[in-house]
Amino acid sequence: MGMKDMLLELRDKALQDLEAAVDPQQLQELKVKYLGRKGPMTEILRGMGKIPAEERPKIGEMVNQVKQVLEQTLKDRAEILREEALKAKLDHEKVDITLPGRKPGIGHLHPLTLTAREIKRIFMHMGFDVVEGPEIDNDYYNFEALNLPKDHPARDMQDTFYITENYLLRTQTSGVQARTMQAHEPNTPIRMISPGAVYRNDYDATHSPMFHQVEGLVVDRNISLADLKGTLELFCREMFGDDVKIRLRPSYFPFTEPSCEVDISCVICGGKGCNVCKHSGWLEILGAGEVHPNVLRMSGYDPSLMNGYAFGMGVERIAMLKYGIDDLRLFFENDLRFIRQFR
Ligand code: DAH
Repeated sequence: MGMKDMLLELRDKALQDLEAAVDPQQLQELKVKYLGRKGPMTEILRGMGKIPAEERPKIGEMVNQVKQVLEQTLKDRAEILREEALKAKLDHEKVDITLPGRKPGIGHLHPLTLTAREIKRIFMHMGFDVVEGPEIDNDYYNFEALNLPKDHPARDMQDTFYITENYLLRTQTSGVQARTMQAHEPNTPIRMISPGAVYRNDYDATHSPMFHQVEGLVVDRNISLADLKGTLELFCREMFGDDVKIRLRPSYFPFTEPSCEVDISCVICGGKGCNVCKHSGWLEILGAGEVHPNVLRMSGYDPSLMNGYAFGMGVERIAMLKYGIDDLRLFFENDLRFIRQFR
Protein backbone atom coordinates (compact mmCIF):
# COMPACT_ATOMS: atom_id res chain seq x y z
CA MET A 1 0.00 0.00 0.00
CA GLY A 2 1.34 3.38 -0.88
CA MET A 3 1.84 6.22 1.63
CA LYS A 4 -1.15 8.04 0.21
CA ASP A 5 -3.55 5.15 0.76
CA MET A 6 -2.24 4.58 4.24
CA LEU A 7 -2.88 8.19 5.10
CA LEU A 8 -6.40 8.11 3.73
CA GLU A 9 -7.20 4.92 5.58
CA LEU A 10 -5.84 6.39 8.78
CA ARG A 11 -7.93 9.54 8.28
CA ASP A 12 -11.15 7.59 7.72
CA LYS A 13 -10.60 5.38 10.71
CA ALA A 14 -9.83 8.38 12.93
CA LEU A 15 -12.89 10.30 11.71
CA GLN A 16 -15.08 7.29 12.39
CA ASP A 17 -13.71 6.98 15.94
CA LEU A 18 -14.10 10.71 16.65
CA GLU A 19 -17.70 10.77 15.49
CA ALA A 20 -18.45 7.82 17.77
CA ALA A 21 -16.92 9.37 20.89
CA VAL A 22 -19.58 9.97 23.54
CA ASP A 23 -17.74 11.96 26.20
CA PRO A 24 -14.82 14.39 26.59
CA GLN A 25 -12.64 11.73 28.16
CA GLN A 26 -12.97 9.47 25.13
CA LEU A 27 -12.16 12.40 22.86
CA GLN A 28 -9.02 13.13 24.83
CA GLU A 29 -7.94 9.50 24.51
CA LEU A 30 -8.48 9.62 20.72
CA LYS A 31 -6.52 12.83 20.47
CA VAL A 32 -3.57 11.17 22.16
CA LYS A 33 -4.00 8.04 20.06
CA TYR A 34 -3.99 9.72 16.62
CA LEU A 35 -2.25 13.05 17.09
CA GLY A 36 -0.04 12.35 20.09
CA ARG A 37 3.75 12.14 20.11
CA LYS A 38 3.65 8.35 19.80
CA GLY A 39 0.79 8.37 17.30
CA PRO A 40 0.87 7.41 13.56
CA MET A 41 0.99 11.01 12.32
CA THR A 42 4.21 11.70 14.19
CA GLU A 43 5.62 8.45 12.92
CA ILE A 44 4.82 9.33 9.32
CA LEU A 45 6.44 12.74 9.64
CA ARG A 46 9.52 11.13 11.15
CA GLY A 47 9.74 8.70 8.26
CA MET A 48 9.65 11.45 5.62
CA GLY A 49 13.36 11.01 5.05
CA LYS A 50 12.81 7.60 3.50
CA ILE A 51 10.39 8.91 0.93
CA PRO A 52 11.76 9.80 -2.51
CA ALA A 53 12.52 13.49 -2.67
CA GLU A 54 10.09 14.29 -5.46
CA GLU A 55 7.14 12.83 -3.53
CA ARG A 56 7.94 14.56 -0.25
CA PRO A 57 6.15 17.87 -0.81
CA LYS A 58 2.94 16.14 -1.86
CA ILE A 59 2.97 13.70 1.03
CA GLY A 60 3.91 16.44 3.45
CA GLU A 61 0.97 18.51 2.31
CA MET A 62 -1.36 15.55 2.68
CA VAL A 63 -0.13 14.82 6.18
CA ASN A 64 -0.81 18.40 7.14
CA GLN A 65 -4.26 18.29 5.59
CA VAL A 66 -5.17 15.10 7.45
CA LYS A 67 -3.84 16.60 10.68
CA GLN A 68 -5.93 19.72 10.15
CA VAL A 69 -9.08 17.73 9.39
CA LEU A 70 -8.62 15.60 12.48
CA GLU A 71 -7.97 18.65 14.69
CA GLN A 72 -11.02 20.44 13.37
CA THR A 73 -13.21 17.36 13.79
CA LEU A 74 -11.93 16.94 17.31
CA LYS A 75 -12.88 20.54 18.11
CA ASP A 76 -16.33 20.22 16.53
CA ARG A 77 -17.03 16.96 18.29
CA ALA A 78 -16.00 18.44 21.65
CA GLU A 79 -18.36 21.35 21.09
CA ILE A 80 -21.25 19.01 20.23
CA LEU A 81 -20.61 16.90 23.30
CA ARG A 82 -20.53 20.04 25.48
CA GLU A 83 -23.88 21.15 24.12
CA GLU A 84 -25.43 17.73 24.56
CA ALA A 85 -24.26 17.58 28.17
CA LEU A 86 -25.72 21.00 28.89
CA LYS A 87 -29.01 20.10 27.28
CA ALA A 88 -29.24 16.85 29.25
CA LYS A 89 -28.49 18.76 32.43
CA LEU A 90 -31.15 21.37 31.70
CA ASP A 91 -33.74 18.71 30.84
CA HIS A 92 -32.89 16.82 33.97
CA GLU A 93 -33.01 19.83 36.28
CA LYS A 94 -36.17 21.25 34.88
CA VAL A 95 -38.32 22.99 37.49
CA ASP A 96 -42.01 22.32 37.28
CA ILE A 97 -43.39 25.74 38.05
CA THR A 98 -46.94 24.41 38.00
CA LEU A 99 -46.35 22.37 41.18
CA PRO A 100 -48.21 23.77 44.20
CA GLY A 101 -45.87 25.59 46.60
CA ARG A 102 -44.85 24.33 49.99
CA LYS A 103 -46.71 26.10 52.77
CA PRO A 104 -44.47 27.61 55.43
CA GLY A 105 -45.31 26.14 58.82
CA ILE A 106 -46.91 28.67 61.10
CA GLY A 107 -45.64 28.39 64.64
CA HIS A 108 -47.22 29.53 67.85
CA LEU A 109 -46.22 30.52 71.34
CA HIS A 110 -44.89 28.07 73.89
CA PRO A 111 -47.30 27.30 76.76
CA LEU A 112 -44.93 28.97 79.23
CA THR A 113 -44.86 32.12 77.14
CA LEU A 114 -48.64 32.07 76.95
CA THR A 115 -48.87 31.68 80.72
CA ALA A 116 -46.33 34.41 81.45
CA ARG A 117 -48.16 36.75 79.09
CA GLU A 118 -51.47 35.99 80.78
CA ILE A 119 -49.96 36.70 84.21
CA LYS A 120 -48.53 39.98 82.92
CA ARG A 121 -51.81 40.95 81.30
CA ILE A 122 -53.75 40.46 84.52
CA PHE A 123 -51.35 42.47 86.66
CA MET A 124 -50.92 45.22 84.08
CA HIS A 125 -54.70 45.67 84.13
CA MET A 126 -54.39 46.25 87.88
CA GLY A 127 -51.84 48.99 87.31
CA PHE A 128 -48.60 47.06 87.84
CA ASP A 129 -45.44 47.95 85.90
CA VAL A 130 -43.40 45.15 84.35
CA VAL A 131 -39.72 45.34 85.33
CA GLU A 132 -36.84 43.08 84.34
CA GLY A 133 -33.68 42.15 86.17
CA PRO A 134 -30.43 40.36 85.25
CA GLU A 135 -30.23 36.56 85.30
CA ILE A 136 -26.60 36.72 86.38
CA ASP A 137 -26.69 38.63 89.62
CA ASN A 138 -24.46 39.15 92.60
CA ASP A 139 -24.73 37.85 96.12
CA TYR A 140 -25.93 41.22 97.36
CA TYR A 141 -29.09 41.43 95.27
CA ASN A 142 -29.95 37.74 95.25
CA PHE A 143 -29.49 37.32 99.01
CA GLU A 144 -28.15 40.11 101.18
CA ALA A 145 -30.52 42.89 100.15
CA LEU A 146 -33.35 40.44 100.83
CA ASN A 147 -32.40 40.13 104.48
CA LEU A 148 -30.34 37.00 103.85
CA PRO A 149 -26.83 37.82 105.17
CA LYS A 150 -23.90 35.50 104.44
CA ASP A 151 -24.19 32.19 106.30
CA HIS A 152 -27.91 32.71 106.93
CA PRO A 153 -29.41 29.22 107.19
CA ALA A 154 -32.30 30.12 104.86
CA ARG A 155 -29.78 30.29 101.99
CA ASP A 156 -29.83 26.48 102.10
CA MET A 157 -33.44 26.56 100.88
CA GLN A 158 -32.05 27.23 97.39
CA ASP A 159 -29.27 25.13 95.84
CA THR A 160 -27.38 27.90 94.07
CA PHE A 161 -25.23 27.83 90.90
CA TYR A 162 -22.26 30.09 91.70
CA ILE A 163 -20.16 31.60 88.92
CA THR A 164 -17.58 33.19 91.23
CA GLU A 165 -17.61 33.88 94.99
CA ASN A 166 -19.73 36.90 94.30
CA TYR A 167 -21.60 36.19 91.06
CA LEU A 168 -24.32 33.58 90.61
CA LEU A 169 -27.28 32.57 88.49
CA ARG A 170 -30.16 34.16 90.32
CA THR A 171 -32.19 31.63 92.30
CA GLN A 172 -35.26 33.87 92.48
CA THR A 173 -36.66 37.02 90.95
CA SER A 174 -36.87 38.61 94.40
CA GLY A 175 -33.62 40.52 93.81
CA VAL A 176 -35.53 42.81 91.47
CA GLN A 177 -37.37 44.13 94.56
CA ALA A 178 -34.19 45.80 95.83
CA ARG A 179 -33.07 46.87 92.36
CA THR A 180 -36.42 48.56 91.74
CA MET A 181 -36.49 50.41 95.05
CA GLN A 182 -32.92 51.58 94.54
CA ALA A 183 -33.80 52.84 91.06
CA HIS A 184 -36.37 55.22 92.60
CA GLU A 185 -36.12 58.22 94.90
CA PRO A 186 -36.48 56.87 98.46
CA ASN A 187 -40.09 56.26 99.49
CA THR A 188 -41.54 56.49 95.99
CA PRO A 189 -44.59 54.21 95.78
CA ILE A 190 -43.99 51.06 93.71
CA ARG A 191 -46.34 48.62 92.07
CA MET A 192 -44.45 46.22 89.87
CA ILE A 193 -44.14 42.64 88.73
CA SER A 194 -40.93 41.11 87.42
CA PRO A 195 -41.06 37.96 85.30
CA GLY A 196 -38.02 35.96 84.25
CA ALA A 197 -35.84 32.84 84.35
CA VAL A 198 -34.26 31.63 87.58
CA TYR A 199 -31.83 28.76 88.25
CA ARG A 200 -31.41 26.09 90.90
CA ASN A 201 -29.57 22.79 91.04
CA ASP A 202 -32.69 20.57 90.96
CA TYR A 203 -34.10 18.16 88.38
CA ASP A 204 -37.17 15.92 88.65
CA ALA A 205 -40.84 15.80 87.63
CA THR A 206 -41.59 19.07 89.44
CA HIS A 207 -38.17 20.82 89.37
CA SER A 208 -36.01 22.03 86.51
CA PRO A 209 -32.55 23.68 86.81
CA MET A 210 -33.99 26.62 84.88
CA PHE A 211 -37.52 27.76 85.51
CA HIS A 212 -39.52 30.96 85.58
CA GLN A 213 -40.94 33.16 88.28
CA VAL A 214 -42.99 36.29 88.49
CA GLU A 215 -42.10 38.52 91.41
CA GLY A 216 -44.51 41.13 92.71
CA LEU A 217 -43.81 44.18 94.86
CA VAL A 218 -46.14 46.87 96.12
CA VAL A 219 -44.77 49.60 98.36
CA ASP A 220 -46.82 52.57 99.56
CA ARG A 221 -48.31 53.93 102.76
CA ASN A 222 -50.73 51.77 104.74
CA ILE A 223 -50.56 48.65 102.64
CA SER A 224 -52.02 45.69 104.51
CA LEU A 225 -52.29 41.94 104.10
CA ALA A 226 -55.89 42.58 103.04
CA ASP A 227 -54.55 44.41 99.97
CA LEU A 228 -52.32 41.45 99.23
CA LYS A 229 -55.16 38.99 99.62
CA GLY A 230 -57.59 41.02 97.50
CA THR A 231 -55.09 41.46 94.69
CA LEU A 232 -54.08 37.81 94.61
CA GLU A 233 -57.69 36.67 94.81
CA LEU A 234 -58.51 38.76 91.75
CA PHE A 235 -55.44 37.38 89.98
CA CYS A 236 -56.45 33.78 90.73
CA ARG A 237 -60.00 34.29 89.53
CA GLU A 238 -58.76 35.77 86.27
CA MET A 239 -56.27 32.96 85.86
CA PHE A 240 -58.27 29.94 86.98
CA GLY A 241 -61.91 31.00 86.79
CA ASP A 242 -64.44 32.77 89.00
CA ASP A 243 -65.14 29.79 91.23
CA VAL A 244 -61.62 29.50 92.56
CA LYS A 245 -61.09 30.22 96.26
CA ILE A 246 -57.83 31.18 97.90
CA ARG A 247 -56.45 30.75 101.39
CA LEU A 248 -53.36 32.08 103.15
CA ARG A 249 -51.25 29.78 105.31
CA PRO A 250 -48.51 31.04 107.65
CA SER A 251 -45.02 30.39 106.32
CA TYR A 252 -41.50 31.75 106.46
CA PHE A 253 -39.46 33.82 104.02
CA PRO A 254 -36.51 35.95 105.15
CA PHE A 255 -37.67 38.99 103.18
CA THR A 256 -41.25 39.12 104.44
CA GLU A 257 -42.79 39.38 107.90
CA PRO A 258 -45.34 37.98 108.34
CA SER A 259 -45.01 35.49 105.51
CA CYS A 260 -47.58 33.21 103.98
CA GLU A 261 -48.12 30.55 101.38
CA VAL A 262 -51.12 31.10 99.11
CA ASP A 263 -53.25 28.11 98.10
CA ILE A 264 -56.08 27.89 95.59
CA SER A 265 -58.97 25.45 95.77
CA CYS A 266 -58.06 22.46 93.61
CA VAL A 267 -58.72 23.25 89.95
CA ILE A 268 -59.12 19.56 89.16
CA CYS A 269 -61.69 18.44 91.77
CA GLY A 270 -63.01 21.82 92.86
CA GLY A 271 -61.93 21.20 96.45
CA LYS A 272 -63.51 17.81 97.07
CA GLY A 273 -60.14 16.03 97.11
CA CYS A 274 -58.25 14.15 94.37
CA ASN A 275 -54.82 12.83 93.45
CA VAL A 276 -53.55 16.19 92.22
CA CYS A 277 -54.32 17.99 95.49
CA LYS A 278 -53.37 14.90 97.49
CA HIS A 279 -56.92 14.81 98.87
CA SER A 280 -56.50 18.14 100.67
CA GLY A 281 -58.71 20.13 98.27
CA TRP A 282 -55.98 22.83 98.04
CA LEU A 283 -53.01 23.58 95.79
CA GLU A 284 -50.08 25.77 96.77
CA ILE A 285 -49.35 28.38 94.11
CA LEU A 286 -47.11 31.08 95.54
CA GLY A 287 -45.27 32.62 98.47
CA ALA A 288 -45.97 36.11 99.77
CA GLY A 289 -45.93 38.41 102.75
CA GLU A 290 -45.49 41.92 104.11
CA VAL A 291 -42.13 43.33 103.02
CA HIS A 292 -39.65 42.98 105.90
CA PRO A 293 -38.60 46.39 107.36
CA ASN A 294 -34.94 45.44 106.85
CA VAL A 295 -35.53 44.99 103.12
CA LEU A 296 -37.10 48.45 102.85
CA ARG A 297 -34.35 50.02 104.95
CA MET A 298 -31.49 48.44 103.00
CA SER A 299 -32.84 49.92 99.78
CA GLY A 300 -33.26 53.39 101.21
CA TYR A 301 -36.94 53.28 102.12
CA ASP A 302 -38.16 54.36 105.56
CA PRO A 303 -40.13 51.51 107.18
CA SER A 304 -41.80 53.89 109.63
CA LEU A 305 -43.34 55.69 106.67
CA MET A 306 -43.70 53.06 103.97
CA ASN A 307 -44.70 49.43 103.93
CA GLY A 308 -45.83 46.93 101.36
CA TYR A 309 -46.30 43.38 100.26
CA ALA A 310 -44.41 41.05 97.95
CA PHE A 311 -45.13 37.76 96.31
CA GLY A 312 -43.41 35.28 94.07
CA MET A 313 -44.95 32.61 91.88
CA GLY A 314 -43.60 29.90 89.59
CA VAL A 315 -44.77 30.21 85.99
CA GLU A 316 -44.33 26.47 85.31
CA ARG A 317 -46.45 25.63 88.34
CA ILE A 318 -49.24 27.99 87.28
CA ALA A 319 -49.15 26.55 83.74
CA MET A 320 -49.22 22.97 85.04
CA LEU A 321 -52.29 23.72 87.13
CA LYS A 322 -54.02 25.73 84.45
CA TYR A 323 -53.52 23.10 81.75
CA GLY A 324 -53.48 19.94 83.91
CA ILE A 325 -49.85 18.99 83.09
CA ASP A 326 -48.29 16.48 85.49
CA ASP A 327 -44.60 16.56 84.48
CA LEU A 328 -42.69 19.83 84.31
CA ARG A 329 -39.98 18.36 82.08
CA LEU A 330 -42.47 18.34 79.18
CA PHE A 331 -42.05 22.12 78.92
CA PHE A 332 -38.37 21.78 78.01
CA GLU A 333 -38.21 18.62 75.88
CA ASN A 334 -39.55 20.38 72.77
CA ASP A 335 -41.72 17.44 71.77
CA LEU A 336 -44.06 18.92 69.15
CA ARG A 337 -46.85 16.49 70.10
CA PHE A 338 -46.92 18.29 73.46
CA ILE A 339 -46.25 21.83 72.24
CA ARG A 340 -48.89 21.71 69.47
CA GLN A 341 -51.66 21.19 71.99
CA PHE A 342 -51.36 24.85 72.98
CA ARG A 343 -52.09 26.34 69.58
N1 DAH B 1 -38.50 34.05 96.21
C1 DAH B 1 -39.34 33.02 96.78
C2 DAH B 1 -38.89 31.68 96.25
O1 DAH B 1 -38.28 31.63 95.23
C3 DAH B 1 -40.79 33.26 96.46
C4 DAH B 1 -41.32 34.41 97.23
C5 DAH B 1 -41.91 34.24 98.47
C6 DAH B 1 -41.23 35.70 96.74
C7 DAH B 1 -42.41 35.29 99.21
C8 DAH B 1 -41.72 36.78 97.47
C9 DAH B 1 -42.32 36.55 98.70
O2 DAH B 1 -41.67 38.02 97.03
O3 DAH B 1 -42.81 37.61 99.40
O4 DAH B 1 -39.15 30.69 96.87
